[in-house]
Amino acid sequence: MKRVAIITGASSGIGRAVARWLAARGHSLLLVARRTERLEALASELRASGVTVEVRPCDVTDAVAVRALAADVATWAHAEVLVNAAGHGRGWGPPEPSRVEQWPGVVEVNLVGAMNMVGAFLPGMRERDAGHIVNVGSIFALGTVADGAAYAASKHGLRAFTLALRQALAGSRVRLSLVHPGSVNTEFGSVAGGREPRDVPVEKWPYRPLLAEEVAETIGWILERPPPVEITELVIRPTAERQFG
Ligand SMILES: NC(=O)c1ccc[n+]([C@@H]2O[C@H](COP(=O)([O-])OP(=O)(O)OC[C@H]3O[C@@H](n4cnc5c(N)ncnc54)[C@H](OP(=O)(O)O)[C@@H]3O)[C@@H](O)[C@H]2O)c1
Repeated sequence: MKRVAIITGASSGIGRAVARWLAARGHSLLLVARRTERLEALASELRASGVTVEVRPCDVTDAVAVRALAADVATWAHAEVLVNAAGHGRGWGPPEPSRVEQWPGVVEVNLVGAMNMVGAFLPGMRERDAGHIVNVGSIFALGTVADGAAYAASKHGLRAFTLALRQALAGSRVRLSLVHPGSVNTEFGSVAGGREPRDVPVEKWPYRPLLAEEVAETIGWILERPPPVEITELVIRPTAERQFG
């Protein structure tokens, strides 16, 4: 059986950077997101370095599709790593009607989507007593922000879910980690603002944000800790950012 690292949100930002980081270290990968073309383009790029990369377009909020994905993977690979980076901050801003209606969708992806993925792949990890799940939280899992009520709720929920699950797995060799980034220069801001997904040039930020590669390197470091070391939670922020969370 192959051993594979599964990354959600691999079509953009942090997830894509994690895929590149792991591919550079020889991991076999399974890339998950909804935008097939982007996943295929990334897979072609990474395969050129000699690693095995599979693409599985999937909406993580679709529990049936996620279970089917896990059943498929079980026929050819063991999931040794799961990085849940799929997420968004739609509905960001004052609580006006057009935004209010987007709140449930934020929780659906950021919390329920991660639960679907963990629920699908954790049983195999427990059976083998091996595996590492990294959930991408946020500084708003630790604090709140007026414009991001649903987002903060989703990330607080993800944090509680992960930490409680960690207790449930006490004594096992399955590791669970949470990474809480501050602002990262990805498409997150445009998606949260209801615009076309796009990167904003770093120079346009009022301060130097984190780069997706910097977060990916940190997630990679967490994954490379030898058992029995588990990084339970880690906050990573740009030095210029003191005001949120
Ligand atoms: N950027 C920041 O400042 C920041 C700070 C703290 C935490 N985070 C967290 O970091 C994670 C990654 O965000 P990012 O900054 O990399 O944003 P991004 O560039 O917009 O990437 C978001 C990713 O999530 C995927 N996604 C969204 N909905 C999905 C769904 N229903 N099913 C499957 N995949 C879905 C998107 O792929 P498709 O659209 O192709 O499905 C995309 O690959 C998120 O959880 C976010 O909350 C970001």
